[in-house]
Amino acid sequence: MRIEKLAIANYRNYASADITLGGGVNLFIGENAQGKTNLLESIYLASVGRSARTPRWQELIKWGEKEAFVRIRVRKDVGGDEIAVRLGAEKHILINGMPITRIGELMGVLKTVLFSPDELAIVKDGPGERRRFMDIALCQLSKAYFYTLTRYNKILSHRNKLLKSHPSAAELEVWDIQLIKEGARVVKTRRGLITRLTGLAVDIHRDVSGGETLALTYEGAGGETLAEIEGTLEAELKRNRERDLQFAVTHVGPQRDDIAITADGVDLRSFGSQGQQRTAALSLKLAEMELLKEESGEYPVLLLDDVLSELDENRQAKLLERIKSYQTIITGTSVSAEVREAIGQYCEYGVVGGEVAQVR
Ligand SMILES: Nc1ncnc2c1ncn2[C@@H]1O[C@H](COP(=O)(O)OP(=O)(O)O)[C@@H](O)[C@H]1O
Ligand SMILES: [Mg+2]
Repeated sequence: MRIEKLAIANYRNYASADITLGGGVNLFIGENAQGKTNLLESIYLASVGRSARTPRWQELIKWGEKEAFVRIRVRKDVGGDEIAVRLGAEKHILINGMPITRIGELMGVLKTVLFSPDELAIVKDGPGERRRFMDIALCQLSKAYFYTLTRYNKILSHRNKLLKSHPSAAELEVWDIQLIKEGARVVKTRRGLITRLTGLAVDIHRDVSGGETLALTYEGAGGETLAEIEGTLEAELKRNRERDLQFAVTHVGPQRDDIAITADGVDLRSFGSQGQQRTAALSLKLAEMELLKEESGEYPVLLLDDVLSELDENRQAKLLERIKSYQTIITGTSVSAEVREAIGQYCEYGVVGGEVAQVR
């Protein structure tokens, strides 16, 4: 799929911008603080319903204004969709002119994969970042997963609230049954994702890193089938019940899970060099592109925010080879003549003070 048109108004530092994008590589070039990341953020917002930078969408409205708009026309192999986001006192999302009632309806309409310097956090930071990575990929792939995860989080927050009120075992049991049911689904789906992703990421990583062997392992409740995972979760919940009551928080479940990421047997989460971590994050993102393509038949749109300049020449070249197959939106302060030559055909835009002008 690809984005044909992006129109924004009163979004961050933009009064308005109306951009027609090319189907291949699109370069957005500008100095710092001109609005390049803001553009990608608006696309990401229309893709998953929220900003990757802030949970508070009020921040996205241009200072001094009351409402912000993002409108995106998506073209697919067959047909297309128009997504409109209006941010005011409330957040409204419309697909083809129809307001959606549940955010799940937006999932998968515009599939994107975002890679920015912040995404290094997937490898480097705490497990929360890796769970976010899995969940965003899975939500774009499957509305069912989105709804399962939403239900799980609701049950979890009810249970945590209940823990504070010294509940009886029977009271807790009611929530535990539901927690186990939805939690096992989350774990099973994520584990399936990691298995599929590993198959793709290993080859990509070997290529991009020049020979390292990447390995990914889902760290969570054991078991292959739903019934097995449910069994493990149930046993672990029982074992942790006293502790849960003492601290009024649920210690067991997919909200605690992680992915182990190793290269040649070394745990990159704690022992990877900056370069290794960056390469592994890139491999994961490129593998996610391939996975989404395998699952849905079409490549998502790749958003590369300020990452080209951070990669050494060899990795840059590997990346540029791959992005020729899909629509990519790249931001940066400058792009060298060598990179331009490697890309071949592309559209280019200048970004200055919240204004965009196509220059090629
Ligand atoms: N809500 C807002 N209203 C107006 N300007 C904003 C808002 N949020 C951020 N900005 C401005 O946007 C600019 C940053 O844009 P950004 O896209 O991050 O820049 P870059 O081109 O470096 O990626 C800063 O100048 C910042 O002050
Ligand atoms: Mg930026």
